Amino acid sequence: MSYDAIGGALAVRSGNLIMNNLEILNSLRSLTRSAPDATSLLVDVLLWLRRERPHYHWVGVYLLQDQELVLVPYVGKPTPHTRLPLNQGICGAAASTGQTLIVDDVNADPRYLACSLETRSEIVVPIQHQGRILGEIDIDSDQPAAFTSDDRDLLEAVAALLAEKL
Ligand code: SME
Repeated sequence: MSYDAIGGALAVRSGNLIMNNLEILNSLRSLTRSAPDATSLLVDVLLWLRRERPHYHWVGVYLLQDQELVLVPYVGKPTPHTRLPLNQGICGAAASTGQTLIVDDVNADPRYLACSLETRSEIVVPIQHQGRILGEIDIDSDQPAAFTSDDRDLLEAVAALLAEKL
């Protein structure tokens, strides 16, 4: 049985129960309230996203420090791109413009900085508070064109939650 969504209720994919966006956000709101500090919150949020969205193969958060994006927690394979200037990569482009970027085919985008040979698509969502960029959520998928407006909606809401705590 394989349904992408069942009208706002639980979704079933390949026999596994996964949460819909609203359920994930409600859980993450509770986590945000109880987290002792920002670092543990970021780790918990990334673990939730990785677990609930099987097409998220690498998930990380970069924070903007002295005009540089610094990778704080991540879940997935190690990447060489632990510090990125704002004029480099898809990450730099998203942070510079303050806009979510979805790249369906990373190998066709000249801005792309590879972190894994398996990665095929990427979404980067800025974390901002009152117009100021604090950092961004970066997610890679091994599937081409893995990210839809559903992922954008979820991750922009997660970014807004994180902004309250950073
Ligand atoms: N692909 C990113 C670099 C970060 S790695 O994906 C973890 C980019 O092009 O900015």
